[in-house]
Amino acid sequence: MTEDAKLFTIDDYEEAAKRVLPKMAYDYFRSGADEERTLKANRKAFRNYEIWYRVLVDVTERDTSTSVLGIPLRAPIIVAPTAYQKLAHPEGEVAAALGAAEAGTIFTLSTLATSTIEEVAAASAGPKWFQLYVHKDRGLTKSLLDRAEAAGYVGIVLTVDAPMLGRRLRDERNAFALPEGLSMVNLAEMADDVSRAEAGSALSSYAASRHDPSLSWSDIDWIRSNSTLPLLVKGIVRADDAGRASDAGVDGVVISNHGGRQVDGAPATIDALPAAVDAVGGRCDVLMDGGVRWGSDVFKAIGLGAKAVLVGRPVVWGLAIDGAAGVSAVLDLLREELANVMALAGCPNLAAIDRDVVRRTG
Ligand SMILES: Cc1cc2nc3c(=O)[nH]c(=O)nc-3n(C[C@H](O)[C@H](O)[C@H](O)COP(=O)(O)O)c2cc1C
Repeated sequence: MTEDAKLFTIDDYEEAAKRVLPKMAYDYFRSGADEERTLKANRKAFRNYEIWYRVLVDVTERDTSTSVLGIPLRAPIIVAPTAYQKLAHPEGEVAAALGAAEAGTIFTLSTLATSTIEEVAAASAGPKWFQLYVHKDRGLTKSLLDRAEAAGYVGIVLTVDAPMLGRRLRDERNAFALPEGLSMVNLAEMADDVSRAEAGSALSSYAASRHDPSLSWSDIDWIRSNSTLPLLVKGIVRADDAGRASDAGVDGVVISNHGGRQVDGAPATIDALPAAVDAVGGRCDVLMDGGVRWGSDVFKAIGLGAKAVLVGRPVVWGLAIDGAAGVSAVLDLLREELANVMALAGCPNLAAIDRDVVRRTG
């Protein structure tokens, strides 16, 4: 029996991962910015929504499948980009991508991955998106876009909520740095920066010196003119920004506050979702992430208009415990929970989950 056979909830996976990870790594993965108000709010806010279940509906078949940007998914649950996955497991992003493919979903590779764009592509035939941080060095940024396209990735996820990084106090206190032998391998010439901690978090100083803080709306066109891949913009909470992104012709918007790691005090994403969906008005797909830990959370996000959710930390916990198998186990768990709540709520497919079934408390 594998370790994960004894794990019944995503929180069980976190507890188990905490036991196997070094403290510096666990702290890095779990943390939010500052006082972690937004980190906690992301989870807590799901409780503000109730499921007004329908009865006497034939739920013999529960179909969780969907498609996002033309990519068929077994369930509306996608792997969010998270950096440094070899801190969680020696096989890092390769294992995570294989686990995602096994679970029938998209794997998103972070710019700050510890495995190369090409090796992840060679290892996993599943659908992959590449998450882009725009660097001041636009030549480097363009080369990342080119490499992702050449390697067969099927979408670019442009992260727009990190002109620099939020303050993650545990990382600062731990003087967080990558251990010997791990680096940001896709950013060759600066790969060692994050292992050179002087004071505070080396990752934070890396981002402050390399990310382009001048990134603005006009750069959406720059990305589009430098890549033919579908483009999603990740890190939006405001309805006007979501509307503006869809005006700019992006293919998807991800309502996200970076898992509470950037602006502490930002709204919970599930609360931000409905107005953003209205502002986009069907012009592109709206996805969300932040605090999704139960199938019922996925159900609520779908009911409020998301096409799919992304999950960050849960995937890291699965990876830490059991590599690719742990990642697919986490994704399968969320899918099975979703199928269960769909049955109980009288929703045999995702289209049946609407705003009438998911209502705000009070
Ligand atoms: C450890 C960690 C690293 C992350 N690294 C990135 C990253 O490199 N790029 C990015 O766009 N988002 C990154 N994120 C944010 C995630 O993509 C996602 O928005 C967030 O984790 C969702 O919240 P959840 O962890 O509650 O599911 C990171 C999040 C965590 C927890």
